[in-house]
Amino acid sequence: MVDFTGKDILDGAQFTREELAHVLDVAEDMRKRLEKERSLDLMKGYVLGALFFEPSTRTRLSFETAMHRLGGSVVGFASAGTSSSAKGESLADTIRNVDQYVDVIAMRHPQIGSARVAAEAAESPVINGGDGAGQHPTQALLDLFTVRSERGHIDGNTIVLCGDLKYGRTVHAGAELYKHYDCKLIFVAPESLKMPPEITARLREHGANVEETTDLEAAMAGADVLYMTRIQKERFDDPAEYQRLKGSYVLTREMVERINPDLTVLHPLPRVDEITTDVDALPGAAYFRQARNGVYARMALIALVTGRI
Ligand code: NCD
Repeated sequence: MVDFTGKDILDGAQFTREELAHVLDVAEDMRKRLEKERSLDLMKGYVLGALFFEPSTRTRLSFETAMHRLGGSVVGFASAGTSSSAKGESLADTIRNVDQYVDVIAMRHPQIGSARVAAEAAESPVINGGDGAGQHPTQALLDLFTVRSERGHIDGNTIVLCGDLKYGRTVHAGAELYKHYDCKLIFVAPESLKMPPEITARLREHGANVEETTDLEAAMAGADVLYMTRIQKERFDDPAEYQRLKGSYVLTREMVERINPDLTVLHPLPRVDEITTDVDALPGAAYFRQARNGVYARMALIALVTGRI
């Protein structure tokens, strides 16, 4: 029996295949319910603390939208500068305080491991909305949901993860989810931005079929899903290194039409220049539908960890 009540959502590696199936099914149910009504009263009286110490558009707004559509309400902040961390308060103290006010916490913070620190400080469940270059499990879950809704199934797909696999937290979390499925994974990155070897090793130990290459066009040829990512400028110590690597991979409409017109193209967004805007009108360009799916996935997670579903 899958039961998420009281659990923290901290990283992609924490899920079993059975748990993933349950989250996706609940998210699908949320989608169906929102087709009939604008909001539910499942979480009336419940409060979400949305603590964003790092910039965010989609993650913060979709968490907030999710809670509102569940019938609950939201408190929080959108930058570290407006919270008491600007006065020198420790993360644990900030969390311990917010924990007095709310029923569930969603947090984004620039430090790897910060979500775990928050989870230890809080009684309420903590959902990691991104901890530096670490993990971003809610994005990975909505990505998985999107693969299922765009392709009809997850098993059997060849999935290409391309771009900044070293610092990209969405792909770190995503790879840990895909390993539970019968998928072929192809990692495409510049040599210096490869997937952390400990993640690749863990996937292979788990029996996952993983290939690594620098050749995007070759990888696209036999793929079902291409997941593009942004080079994570804010994680580079050396700005010259970022300048050198930005623009490493740019997906164009011409490439999709020539190499693989059936390709489903995903991106966690924001995009900088890694997908040209002429791709947007292709039927397989699913990144804006993917953003919408973030609301359903986050509704599911909030309702599950608070034991409301
Ligand atoms: C991602 C993130 O913040 O890690 N964005 C998101 O949550 N949709 C990807 C990124 O910033 O490149």
